[in-house]
Amino acid sequence: MSKKRLLFAASEVYPFAKTGGLADVAHALPKALTERFDVDVVMPLYQSIDREQYAIRPIGEKFEVSMGNAAYEVQLFGCTYQEVRYRFVYSPLLCEREFLYGPPHSGYEDNALRFGIFNYALLAMMQMSEYAIAHLNDWQCALVALLLHERPEIHTRTLFTIHNLAYQGTFPSEILSDLGIDEKYFTMEGIEFYGQVSFMKAAIAYADAVTTVSPTYAKEILTEEFGCGLEGFLRAHRKKLVGILNGIDTEHFSPQNDTVLLTPYSDLKGKRINKSDYLKSVSLKGINKPLFVFIGRFTGQKGMQILIDTLPKLAGLECNVAILGEGEESYREEVEKLAHAHRNVYFHFGYDEVQSHRMYAAADFLLMPSLFEPCGLNQLIAFAYGAVPIVHHVGGLIDSVKRFEKFDPDAKNGFGIAFERPSERACLHAMAKAMDLYQDKKLYNAIVKHNMNCDFSWTESAKVYADLYDTLSR
Ligand code: GLC
Repeated sequence: MSKKRLLFAASEVYPFAKTGGLADVAHALPKALTERFDVDVVMPLYQSIDREQYAIRPIGEKFEVSMGNAAYEVQLFGCTYQEVRYRFVYSPLLCEREFLYGPPHSGYEDNALRFGIFNYALLAMMQMSEYAIAHLNDWQCALVALLLHERPEIHTRTLFTIHNLAYQGTFPSEILSDLGIDEKYFTMEGIEFYGQVSFMKAAIAYADAVTTVSPTYAKEILTEEFGCGLEGFLRAHRKKLVGILNGIDTEHFSPQNDTVLLTPYSDLKGKRINKSDYLKSVSLKGINKPLFVFIGRFTGQKGMQILIDTLPKLAGLECNVAILGEGEESYREEVEKLAHAHRNVYFHFGYDEVQSHRMYAAADFLLMPSLFEPCGLNQLIAFAYGAVPIVHHVGGLIDSVKRFEKFDPDAKNGFGIAFERPSERACLHAMAKAMDLYQDKKLYNAIVKHNMNCDFSWTESAKVYADLYDTLSR
């Protein structure tokens, strides 16, 4: 029997374009699905993507999409990367920009139009070839579900994944006619959201299934605290909502085979060499002191305020701290000041994949004080590289990080240090626990060894997605 065709759409995919965890998922999950499905991963061909490096070429498809009263030129490109087939949508308005969505912390004003084109192009692809399933990720491709509602002749079934409910793609209602969407959809049951148009609602309302990236987040978003205003709407559609825990690409995140490490490793001895190399490279001293790292976007979600509030006290302990990330300017200034004031705090501003791998390899602890976390991937990477995560126990961090107090060497899960409240006090308490745990070498080493041997690959979760696709397209 031939495999069913799957269109997997996302606005960013590693290694072509990445601003967050979505890109890693959109890279690794399709890879794990190719055994059971004939997959096309589709994303915009942003100007920043290196066409030469990945041998991205036109595939001979050029067409116009009409949206509202305008028509937009679209050209399809393609390449194969790590045995996965990629399709890129090129349209000048969508692609010719410095940033994917806009400069840090503002979106381009015409993002509704830009991603509207992307959605119409996806629809055109579904018209051109028969896909059994379209897996749509986040608001940037959510409109497809609604557009399909108007095209009963296309039999593609849709699954929509919420990676982060805090980004919904809401725009002024005037955009409706430019998007070519009938007024009849502008209702509470449709895409109206406090007088605006919400892309996210289009998919929650009209997709055949909705998933999010961990079982706990799937429950949390039904509450006012985490629902970002959509909790009632999600509750109304809860029958088609499930939470499936993300995995990581264990070929890419593998300390044994990681080519950016000076010394790839599979045990604690090898890890210590990486720690020593890293400390030297950033002029931190004290191989026997625990190294805490923070890697991530500087946004409120990631618990930046807690990090900033606790840093002076953490820095007062016998430890080193290294921070890597970019994002909101005010956080950057605060962290810079702290790094300046404390000799044992190192700060690198910017997104840097190579540097991040070296930090995971060097770290004894990873800090993740996120206020909310749909899944989080950093804690899984930390497990694989033998850094113990210190997390605010919320969302996917509940599903993936077990408390070390209940350490069980036979457990399937990884163990870390968890705190229940997103407060300075609770985080400090967890940091103190980490200092103690680090002194208990026997337990600390047992935990690290255990975590490094756990399976965080996509194997199991990809099977859940594949079964879901099968059920939907039966
Ligand atoms: C978003 C979420 C993160 C999740 C990732 C991939 O970035 O904030 O928690 O792991 O998407 O699904």
